[in-house]
Amino acid sequence: MDKLVIEGGRELKGEVRIAGAKNAALPLMAAAILAPGQTTLHNVPDLVDVGTMAEVLEGLGISVDRRNDAMALDATTITSDTAPYELVKTMRASFYALGALVGRLGRAKVSLPGGCAWGPRPVDIHLKGLEALGVKTQLDRGYILADARKMRGCRFVLDFPSVGASVNLLLAAVAAKGETVLENVAREPEVTNLARMLIAMGAPIEGAGTTAFHIEGGHSLNAVDFHVIPDRIEAGTYLAAVGRAGGDVTLVGANPDHLSIILDRSVEAGLKIAVRNDRIRVQSSGKLHPVDIQTEVFPGFATDMQAQWIAMMTGAEGSCLVEDTIYPDRFTHVPELIRLGANIAMRDNIAQVTGPVKLVGAPVMSTDLRASASLVIAALAAKGRTEISRIYHLDRGYERLEEKFAVLGAKIWREEDE
Ligand code: EPU
Repeated sequence: MDKLVIEGGRELKGEVRIAGAKNAALPLMAAAILAPGQTTLHNVPDLVDVGTMAEVLEGLGISVDRRNDAMALDATTITSDTAPYELVKTMRASFYALGALVGRLGRAKVSLPGGCAWGPRPVDIHLKGLEALGVKTQLDRGYILADARKMRGCRFVLDFPSVGASVNLLLAAVAAKGETVLENVAREPEVTNLARMLIAMGAPIEGAGTTAFHIEGGHSLNAVDFHVIPDRIEAGTYLAAVGRAGGDVTLVGANPDHLSIILDRSVEAGLKIAVRNDRIRVQSSGKLHPVDIQTEVFPGFATDMQAQWIAMMTGAEGSCLVEDTIYPDRFTHVPELIRLGANIAMRDNIAQVTGPVKLVGAPVMSTDLRASASLVIAALAAKGRTEISRIYHLDRGYERLEEKFAVLGAKIWREEDE
């Protein structure tokens, strides 16, 4: 297993290219299951999670060919209806195979994902929605067996605008004969990206980017060429690093429309932000103000940026409250940030961060993807050497993170952990 070593205390300067979004690429890859023929995705990030989804697809008989940031997926024939436990347990998004297989084959056998490091993360809304579409589902030795022979359009209101449930239900509904209305769906840009790809494939869908989808299901779908949107969380992570460590960095290839609230809160916190097309220039002013945030569904402040915001706020002059309403237990980074010198008090799902503190490097442990990103940010600002172990979490969601930070002037490298 590798560890990251960071010698902090240097300002970040230069340009960094933002990769395609992990959480957009995964549903688009699943959508390829629906169309016989060759789908080509562009701007696909080079990440462990993308590799895991490729393995899921290969297990179904789809050939996957990767060249640079393009990925060709040939789904002419599907030879299996199963997404196995070994893959689903390592990546929950493998569960998207359920909606897509139901859509393509009318049946599926997909392992039920378990909990995760920061909570139970149920899939009840996915299953309720499929039942509403007439799909019979049963649990058999840890697997969901789905039978979609009687699938047809329906009206369904999601209990909560879950990203994953919106994806799975869209993937199934485009194959359900008749009209489906899905209400209270997620408006996250990654879900909208999927809806747009399905429209390009020939599925009549109205309401992409709104809280309701009107879908005319049952049309045959064509394989298409399609682009993955830029990763708003990767962009936000580099922004928070500049906020905490200081410097002047331009994020290139980002979509500012997907980052509105993060940019607004960052300006409130004292960062200078200049947007020109797909370039976002982030300059620190040397002073950070405390800014409260509460995570919400899009267009609110993303839970996937909560940990990085806490890391940035350790440098602010005063106290702020950071509340996670989406995942109340997603705070495993807090004890590790405290090891680096952060002053954070937890009350239920609210972190009170008090600064400014002088962070000092120490050995810390990565617990999940975004928690690890927050440790990197803190380590870049800390005096001395930080070693972050278990960085496989980072490789799941950040493309060449240490190379990109090194280009910006950080002293950061990867070593083998004994
Ligand atoms: N929920 C339910 N029942 C369900 C589904 C969700 O109660 O059937 C609840 C969850 O427990 C949670 C809330 O709804 O409290 C939101 O969960 P959602 O389903 O929206 O999350 P997800 O689809 O499992 C995706 C991202 C996560 C991101 C969340 C929230 C992917 C592959 N994952 O997860 O990304 O945190 O949306 O925006 O898109 C990450 O990239 O680090 C990551 C964890």
